[in-house]
Amino acid sequence: MEARTLAQNLLGDPKEKNNIVTRFPSSIILSIAYGHRVTSDKDRYVLLADEVSGAAATAGALGSSLLDFLPFLQYMPSWFPGTYYANYARKWAPKVKQFRDLPFEDVQRQMKEGTAKPCLLVSELETLGRGPIDGKTTIDDIKGASSLAYIGGVETTTSSLFIFILAMILHPECQARAQAELDAVVGSQRLPEFDDRDSLPYLECLLHETLRWHSPLPTGVPHFTVEDDVYRGMLIPKGSIIVGNARYDEEKDKPLGLLKILTNRAMSWDENIYANPFGFEPTRYLPAPLGRGEPRPVAHWGFGRR
Ligand code: HEM
Repeated sequence: MEARTLAQNLLGDPKEKNNIVTRFPSSIILSIAYGHRVTSDKDRYVLLADEVSGAAATAGALGSSLLDFLPFLQYMPSWFPGTYYANYARKWAPKVKQFRDLPFEDVQRQMKEGTAKPCLLVSELETLGRGPIDGKTTIDDIKGASSLAYIGGVETTTSSLFIFILAMILHPECQARAQAELDAVVGSQRLPEFDDRDSLPYLECLLHETLRWHSPLPTGVPHFTVEDDVYRGMLIPKGSIIVGNARYDEEKDKPLGLLKILTNRAMSWDENIYANPFGFEPTRYLPAPLGRGEPRPVAHWGFGRR
């Protein structure tokens, strides 16, 4: 439904296009999390989320501020040197709380009134209402998970869509080839469905190449070792911060705060795996002789629990 709305809107007034692209993932994720569809740019959830996402975007690279290395700084007074990000976090905390609380309270009220739409939050609250989920999941966890879907999903998807549009502007021949494939497989009487995906190999390559070429989170989310580990003969002591380098390049990108990336061979741009790594070449994943059979990239999804 949202994809159709996006496609229709993209054919409309060019002045509106920025918001149109952002509205697409916002509405999908708010529907999934809270059963809430976005129909206007003045949507109060979106306005609030934009403020919070903007604050997160200017809060420094993840895991790289002095505060991450010296957590005691959060307890020091605001004039104390090195407390900039602790003060920043304190300043934004009420807004973040509001962002977690507002849609949650709306859905709770709708559940009482019997008007709540099926969504993640309703399903989790109903499950919790039937008894403890795993002995430790609390209402706060459920509230946090719902709001995190927005923070995790909207910026990443919006950036990916903009990167895709940029790639199509730079490489109109790729757009023409994808369009021809769509026309041949789907025809002109309907829009593509997920069932068509296996029959659209070039489009699939285009998707992977967009995410490899400029993934939206170059260094993902830092992780923390809970025990000593040995990797290829190197000891990584317990308590180290580990950063998976999907596509950060020391020469091309801005410095990452205190983080020093010790290799400039980003996984998605590794020339031992991807020929012409900085080039946009969707066919690289197709088996020979159509392409070079290079592996589909995965590093941009990070190394977490999923
Ligand atoms: C192009 C799209 C996306 C990219 C590139 C992306 C990338 C990432 C990365 C790199 C991580 C860190 C994983 C780790 O190493 O622990 C992550 C985590 C996460 N993402 Fe995404 N993501 C995308 C879309 C989404 C969407 C659509 C959602 C929600 C609907 C989402 C929700 C999350 C959540 C909740 C986490 C934290 C998971 C955890 O705590 O283990 N992401 N994502």
